[in-house]
Amino acid sequence: MDEEIKLLLERMENKKTKVKAGIHYYIGDILGKSVVLCKSGVGKVNAAVTTQILIDSFDVSRVLFTGVAGAVHPELNIGDIVISSTCVQHDMDATALGFSRGEIPYQENSVFKADSSLVLLAERACNELGQKHLVGKVLSGDQFISNAEIVAKLRKELNGMCVEMEGAAVAQVCMMNATPFVIIRSISDKSDGSANVSFKEFTVEASGRSHSILEYMLQHL
Ligand code: ADE
Repeated sequence: MDEEIKLLLERMENKKTKVKAGIHYYIGDILGKSVVLCKSGVGKVNAAVTTQILIDSFDVSRVLFTGVAGAVHPELNIGDIVISSTCVQHDMDATALGFSRGEIPYQENSVFKADSSLVLLAERACNELGQKHLVGKVLSGDQFISNAEIVAKLRKELNGMCVEMEGAAVAQVCMMNATPFVIIRSISDKSDGSANVSFKEFTVEASGRSHSILEYMLQHL
């Protein structure tokens, strides 16, 4: 989201902009590291296209993705952070053909593993900042989840930590291109329709959190 990249964009030096497939890519240096900053937009297709372009046109060596998510794990509260251990597309459903929920038919791997050094670095950033966080499976689908029964199912059937709309698409593209990645999500709601926080206000707060985590990570990469 715009709020999320604004803070990083302000710190970018030697900035150049390129537009591809309607997506703005900002190329420059942040804290002495060469960075390509972009906003994927919402949903798996946007996220997949954005990521493939990052890899093909900008030759990135790793992908750090931040954003907001709904809680699935009962211990998560609004404002907590989830760091991906793995990502799965929860809306991939070929169960009628005998595949399990989330399993992509005729494909070896449907659970995409985040890079362990990036996960560790994100954990270190959270510890350093006193930020409550859990590491676990990020579930992605082209649906905003706002139903407690669906949350219970996502937890039971897929052992999900949180739910959002892009991570597993970024993860799959990164896996297909052997590019290390990590997804870092700020919990914005309980995925059960009880959200009474202003989404806009929350995004501004969450951007501050993501910014601090990314700042630490960039310094220590
Ligand atoms: N992003 C933030 N909250 C979400 C939810 N409940 N479902 C899907 N994506 C989200």
